[in-house]
Amino acid sequence: MMENPILQRRAVRKYASTPVAGPDIEEMVAAFEAAPCGMHQVEGMQATVVTDEALLKKVATASSNACYGAPLLFVISAKKTSPFGDRDASAAAENVMVQAAALDLGSVYVMSGAQVLNGHPNLLKELGVDDGYAVTVIVAIGHPAGKVDTPDRTHRYKLVRR
Ligand SMILES: Cc1cc2nc3c(=O)[nH]c(=O)nc-3n(C[C@H](O)[C@H](O)[C@H](O)COP(=O)(O)O)c2cc1C
Repeated sequence: MMENPILQRRAVRKYASTPVAGPDIEEMVAAFEAAPCGMHQVEGMQATVVTDEALLKKVATASSNACYGAPLLFVISAKKTSPFGDRDASAAAENVMVQAAALDLGSVYVMSGAQVLNGHPNLLKELGVDDGYAVTVIVAIGHPAGKVDTPDRTHRYKLVRR
């Protein structure tokens, strides 16, 4: 039986150059679309799915390779005036990452590269990010290159039971 993809998901930062298959991308798009959003304000976030080589290179250059050469990026942007956008984006990122794990793909939540992109307005335009939105998280996705580290994660956060 397949492992629970929530538990299987690990931050993966080394990717094979093999592209992600189209049907797999569509499953992750469906996972993105199924994400919750604050007060059903669906305009709080939007995303760009990037597979175009030239655009991936531009993102890599602008962000000093913050996305680790992944062949697929979900660039998720939040509406700057929305109180929910950042949270919506984070919830959607987790949906995409869990779906990636279910497909035996590796992924990582990238905040550093997301923030850097906002200093490149022309690139934001090329990515189709609407005015008034800021990139808040990029989910980098690809086939893992090599063995994925699986450190024990039990008890890593403080958890109170009462
Ligand atoms: C808010 C947030 C920001 C993150 N930013 C980055 C980042 O910029 N670059 C990166 O390589 N990983 C980033 N990560 C991934 C974390 O480093 C990773 O999730 C954490 O080390 C726990 O490991 P695990 O995901 O394998 O459980 C980020 C994760 C979160 C939740």
